[in-house]
Amino acid sequence: MGDKKLSGQTALVTGANSGIGAGVAKSLGQAGANVIINYVSKPEDADALVAEIKSYGVDALAIQGDVSKEDQVQAMFRQVVDHFGTIDILVNNAGLQRDAKFDELTLAQWQTVIDVNLTGQFLCAREAIREFLRRGPRPDVSRATGKIICMSSVHEAIPWAGHVNYAASKGAIKMLMQSLAQEYGDRQIRVNSICPGAIQTPINTGAWSTPQALNSLMTLIPYNRIGQPEDIGNLAVFLASDDSDYITGASIFIDGGMTVLESFSDGG
Ligand code: NAI
Ligand code: BGC
Repeated sequence: MGDKKLSGQTALVTGANSGIGAGVAKSLGQAGANVIINYVSKPEDADALVAEIKSYGVDALAIQGDVSKEDQVQAMFRQVVDHFGTIDILVNNAGLQRDAKFDELTLAQWQTVIDVNLTGQFLCAREAIREFLRRGPRPDVSRATGKIICMSSVHEAIPWAGHVNYAASKGAIKMLMQSLAQEYGDRQIRVNSICPGAIQTPINTGAWSTPQALNSLMTLIPYNRIGQPEDIGNLAVFLASDDSDYITGASIFIDGGMTVLESFSDGG
């Protein structure tokens, strides 16, 4: 076992070739974990990230797979166990938006968001928990038998007009996460959610790519800056490590204060 917080452990990050997932994958690698980069498109981005993470002195592997497809998720976990022997940390990060006014929202837009953001987290969490239970404790690397981190959002708490499918998917992640924490706590499996505010990634380009949009966004953020993937990576390392060993079933907001509702600072 090395001297870094996550040395000797293996982490799978879904949707890891972009944005928050890439930031989390780098942070976990820097903390000593071997990292699997799951991706669904743009293999060249996944390969570049694998090369960068290997330069930290850990192992990394890119695996293509659509998290909303049971057979692809199961094949991915088989590949992980074949290559690394087991998995210690799952970061359920893959997600997307398909925005529309509710009266114009199509069933396809609804279904795509639920399939990826919710069913994808179910399928990956189930395979991870099956592997944690099969393998049992590894006290040489962690007090917990396994750790699952769900990428939720401030929108598990803040309703979001024009994004009903997305907000519904994140509200559901809260109950998925808490129910899993309850069901598997006695097996020392920890399950928590990260709830980011606005983080600068391709998912929300419209919210930061012009000065006007950025100014408008700042009216929602007391701390007055947009978040970066590295902010989320730092929290993911904490939640994956024994520093957070007594934390399970928690939604941790990391949002520059967005959930204290800055827009009420001089109104209401
Ligand atoms: P992004 O668009 O940069 O990354 C999303 C990743 O998920 C991409 O790699 C994409 O290819 C992947 N993905 C999409 N469908 C997939 C599928 N079926 N199977 C596997 N991978 C798939 O966006 P970002 O911001 O990095 O989003 C990551 C997570 O963070 C999402 O769950 C999102 O809801 C959440 N989030 C983002 C916030 C933000 O402000 N950027 C704030 C709160 C939550
Ligand atoms: C969404 C982003 C948005 C952020 C804050 C995230 O869940 O994916 O588009 O900027 O919440 O509203």
